[in-house]
Amino acid sequence: MRRYLRVVVLCVACGLCSLLYAFSQLAVSLEEGAGGGGGKPQAAVASWLAGGGRGAVRGAGTAARPGGSDRYSLKIQPVEKMHLAVVACGERLEETMTMLKSAIIFSIKPLQFHIFAEDQLHHSFKGRLDSWSFLQTFNYTLYPITFPSENAAEWKKLFKPCASQRLFLPLILKEVDSLLYVDTDILFLRPVDDIWSLLKKFNSTQIAAMAPEHEEPRIGWYNRFARHPYYGKTGVNSGVMLMNMTRMRRKYFKNDMTTVRLQWGDILMPLLKKYKLNITWGDQDLLNIMFFHNPESLFVFPCQWNYRPDHCIYGSNCQEAEEEGIFILHGNRGVYHDDKQPAFRAVYEALRNCSFEDDNIRSLLKPLELELQKTVHTYCGKIYKIFIKQLAKSVRDRYARSPKEK
Ligand SMILES: *[C@@H]1O[C@H](CO)[C@@H](O)[C@H](O)[C@H]1NC(C)=O
Ligand SMILES: *[C@@H]1O[C@H](CO)[C@@H](O)[C@H](O)[C@H]1NC(C)=O
Ligand SMILES: *[C@@H]1O[C@H](CO)[C@@H](O)[C@H](O)[C@H]1NC(C)=O
Ligand SMILES: *[C@@H]1O[C@H](CO)[C@@H](O)[C@H](O)[C@H]1NC(C)=O
Ligand SMILES: *[C@@H]1O[C@H](CO)[C@@H](O)[C@H](O)[C@H]1NC(C)=O
Repeated sequence: MRRYLRVVVLCVACGLCSLLYAFSQLAVSLEEGAGGGGGKPQAAVASWLAGGGRGAVRGAGTAARPGGSDRYSLKIQPVEKMHLAVVACGERLEETMTMLKSAIIFSIKPLQFHIFAEDQLHHSFKGRLDSWSFLQTFNYTLYPITFPSENAAEWKKLFKPCASQRLFLPLILKEVDSLLYVDTDILFLRPVDDIWSLLKKFNSTQIAAMAPEHEEPRIGWYNRFARHPYYGKTGVNSGVMLMNMTRMRRKYFKNDMTTVRLQWGDILMPLLKKYKLNITWGDQDLLNIMFFHNPESLFVFPCQWNYRPDHCIYGSNCQEAEEEGIFILHGNRGVYHDDKQPAFRAVYEALRNCSFEDDNIRSLLKPLELELQKTVHTYCGKIYKIFIKQLAKSVRDRYARSPKEK
């Protein structure tokens, strides 16, 4: 009998020890998360969870403060979330989910998705995203497509049915300080954290960041055809747009409609009225007009952050991507779904097919490279290496097996 008692006592002791060990590990990871600016993925997630993350694990965060002592809470700082918005209409569910997956796979800090979608898509989005909730590195909100009631019809028919929704994001997401807006046909080939960090590089007058519409003026659209003002030499592309919305909401914009400056919420309608007969690409044209009059407010990032078929279709013209690889791929003109640019499609399909398992992500590259080698008959395929250069690095940085694990 005594022997059994000893065994029981021993077991309890062991249990206590491992509990203590778990707590000390948690404390260490919290420290790293708060101090390291998100160097290690697990650490950042742990501290995010402790700072108000999702249900189950929040319990663990509370349990790390035994006896009401606040010893640990001093170290807990909520990690800044990265807010990502997308507008999805029509047949864009699969494409949008692949974009969101690429954001989740490589990012370090937690993500907050703001998904604006037609009502009939909400159910599918919810189902798909809830099936990913085990990841605990993102959270999402679904919104209906809405426009100001007076002119809803006019905004809807501008360019594509839902595209101009993005213009209203600073007014709808009033509580959000900064936001990365992307089109559905975007793929992140490196952590969202990296483009997010450009927000901190804004000087005091900059409120938003975009890439040029073209690198090569000879094939540029705006400089050859536009019947309205546009930013810079070739205009800007709004498919990847970083916004400090606090600043956008505060700013008074110079314009060519009145002599007084107008705030974001007041400028959109007069702008549409004045230019609606002259614009071709809808809301992107309005943004170009806006930043033509307020050029000090725009931060221009290089083309590898918004790499489109235009950058290689007639020969390569995005020098930064040639040097460092593509950071964000933008398959506009439907190239993920037809056979015109097989290099773009290959990257899309590789990410669409890939799951969240580490092994699956690590083994994404080899078959993709083989697919890309089949595209060298196209101009974009000739430089296929730039499609995987950064991607390979991102996979290595995030998913390399640490020696300990072996
Ligand atoms: C997730 O988003 C919902 C809104 O959709 C919000 O109420 C909730 O607080 C968020 N959770 C976290 C952990 O941020
Ligand atoms: C956005 O701008 C506001 C006002 O200048 C500033 O307080 C805030 O820190 C900025 N946000 C980011 C993410 O840099
Ligand atoms: C629209 O385009 C026409 C023809 O190029 C031009 O004459 C007119 O000034 C433009 N309207 C505006 C508001 O710029
Ligand atoms: C911020 O940068 C923009 C673009 O380079 C420039 O036009 C503007 O003058 C700068 N603002 C300040 C306050 O330096
Ligand atoms: C992705 O999956 C589809 C169907 O499951 C398959 O036909 C295709 O070859 C795969 N593509 C890649 C690049 O793995």
